[in-house]
Amino acid sequence: MPLSPEFWSVELDVPVDLVPAAEEMLGEAGIAVSSYEVPRAGLAMSPDWRVQVLFDAPPDEQDWRARMTAVAAGLDIPATIRFTHLPAKDWVRHTNTLNAPIRAGRFFLYGAHDAGQVPPGALGILLDAGLAFGTGRAPSTYGCLQAIDDLCRVTAPHRMLDMGTGSGVLAMAAAKAGSRAGARAVLAADIDPVAVDVTRNNVRLNGLSARIGALTASRPDDPRLLRAGPYDLVVANILAEPLCRMATGLSRLVAAGGHLVLSGLLAREERLIVARYRTTGLSLARRIPREGWHTLVFKRRK
Ligand SMILES: C[S@@+](CC[C@H](N)C(=O)[O-])C[C@H]1O[C@@H](n2cnc3c(N)ncnc32)[C@H](O)[C@@H]1O
Repeated sequence: MPLSPEFWSVELDVPVDLVPAAEEMLGEAGIAVSSYEVPRAGLAMSPDWRVQVLFDAPPDEQDWRARMTAVAAGLDIPATIRFTHLPAKDWVRHTNTLNAPIRAGRFFLYGAHDAGQVPPGALGILLDAGLAFGTGRAPSTYGCLQAIDDLCRVTAPHRMLDMGTGSGVLAMAAAKAGSRAGARAVLAADIDPVAVDVTRNNVRLNGLSARIGALTASRPDDPRLLRAGPYDLVVANILAEPLCRMATGLSRLVAAGGHLVLSGLLAREERLIVARYRTTGLSLARRIPREGWHTLVFKRRK
């Protein structure tokens, strides 16, 4: 496995508006000067950026402490300085760890490097997320997968719509789950044509082209979505605001006795969504909270 070289760095915390000045003062120090945003701790407002000087050999700590202290004094900010050693890393293995397969219900989401690892009895979904959202790592995706798995164990959705399909992960999950054959006619829609291309590619990789169609669409009243409906299962993992806007349209697409799975909403947004969708005649059947994100399952009476 190839190893990266090791590096050392010296960093200074800098408020965002002073980053260009700090970088200029450091000029062409080390092998590179760069800066990056740091997640804010608690309610702290600043500093929220770090300017970094990178070295391919250990820097003289005393020398660099003095130099960074002078930069901080020149900018009139506290001298918060860090010295870091970045050891050589096996980047291929590291990246593969980040992309490790995911289990969600019966689904086993994996990349090409894990082909052949699908456990017996699991429903394998090969994913090349590309530029689209949907590796299964997001808690909202996970919640939807769990909901789809559980619904497909007790009902056998024939028609399914995945609104905001991203990588196509949920459409493929529905096509693979269910009694015996899974949902037979699945439509995967996304506002983003790149996501639609990624979905088509994933659908092909998983041998599901005969069951899943993908199209660019941004509204539930799109005539093509209406024509293929109503659906036994509609899933939309978007965000609370568009979900609220789409309430009437999405709800109309759900067949009698069918289910609607909504996700992409924060815990505090749940009440608003539940209230809005109740006005469309759906009732809340289940909630799946995960890491602050809630997935809601609604049902339409028969
Ligand atoms: C959070 S991602 C979900 C992706 C995937 N379904 C999953 O569960 O991992 C939301 C997706 O919704 C799409 N989207 C946002 N607004 C939309 C709209 N009005 N109509 C259709 N798709 C939309 C985005 O382009 C994005 O691919």
